Amino acid sequence: MTILVIGRQGQLAQSLAAAGRADVVCVGRPEADLTDAASLARVVERVQPKAVINAAAYTFVDKAESEAAACYAANRDGPAELARLCAARGIVLIHISTDMVFDGEKAGPYHPDDLPAPLSVYGQSKLDGERAVAQACPHSLIVRVQWVFSEHAGNFVRTMLTLAQTRDEVTVVNDQLGYPTYCPDLAAGLLKMADSAVQPGFAKWGIYHLAGTEATDRARMAEAIFAESAMMDGPVARVKGVPTADYPTPAKRPLNARLESLKAFDTFGIRMPDWRAGLKRSVRVLVNELAKAEG
Ligand SMILES: NC(=O)c1ccc[n+]([C@@H]2O[C@H](COP(=O)([O-])OP(=O)(O)OC[C@H]3O[C@@H](n4cnc5c(N)ncnc54)[C@H](OP(=O)(O)O)[C@@H]3O)[C@@H](O)[C@H]2O)c1
Repeated sequence: MTILVIGRQGQLAQSLAAAGRADVVCVGRPEADLTDAASLARVVERVQPKAVINAAAYTFVDKAESEAAACYAANRDGPAELARLCAARGIVLIHISTDMVFDGEKAGPYHPDDLPAPLSVYGQSKLDGERAVAQACPHSLIVRVQWVFSEHAGNFVRTMLTLAQTRDEVTVVNDQLGYPTYCPDLAAGLLKMADSAVQPGFAKWGIYHLAGTEATDRARMAEAIFAESAMMDGPVARVKGVPTADYPTPAKRPLNARLESLKAFDTFGIRMPDWRAGLKRSVRVLVNELAKAEG
């Protein structure tokens, strides 16, 4: 069976490709463009997959506040089109969503059936995308993920290490809580979901959360990155923790973004490994990469 991944350059698409499975085909723009329905139809027709993982999205959370049309086109309308294509051909669709569908007001971790209430254009576009996918394609799994990092593409670890090349101190919010998630672990979990979902008789469609298991805040995560980097003689900076109220951004973010992944464990047996092992690997690869780039 072939698993078609929409996306090639992004962090999750690269991690799915790096899983090394011969049955995974990653296709990015321009061949598969979420804003071009004909391109999606062509690629699905060519690859004839059993399952599709949509790893592509408009992910510029702050820019989305002033680029709503582009954001909705990629995060709502494109996935809706993909879902119609998959439904018409009996293809399983795994669509990726985000913790940012929640407002963060809950005291504990969020379960998949908790009520969403996005604070931002990006969050609303992803929620609308979830709903469009579920409506158009009954054979779909919507998987919310959060705080994804790795050695691939752009992410918080790369940003911190890059900033530390030129700064002694970085300012990071210390009151946003989440479960950091190592992207190759996430990719392995998604492939396990796909393998189960294509089996005859599978019926557990719906929304799942898939995230790391140990909560932290952004400032402490930055400290953990620099602690690893220091052990490898990589870039290091002091972390100045500040409350979100003192660090205004165009898009509002939930203070409590923790996603509870128990349903994914009960249904698919997926238990995400400790994210700190993934952090060690990410920092090692990125420190080497940055050193090489510096010459
Ligand atoms: N990273 C996180 O912490 C995080 C947290 C919560 C949820 N998520 C969700 O996880 C999924 C994967 O995110 P990621 O971290 O891999 O993001 P990423 O690294 O920003 O990659 C997103 C990819 O989407 C592609 N893309 C954007 N617009 C597109 C379009 N119109 N058609 C086709 N491709 C398009 C981009 O392609 P180009 O390279 O061609 O620009 C990019 O490669 C997304 O659904 C995201 O919303 C991520």
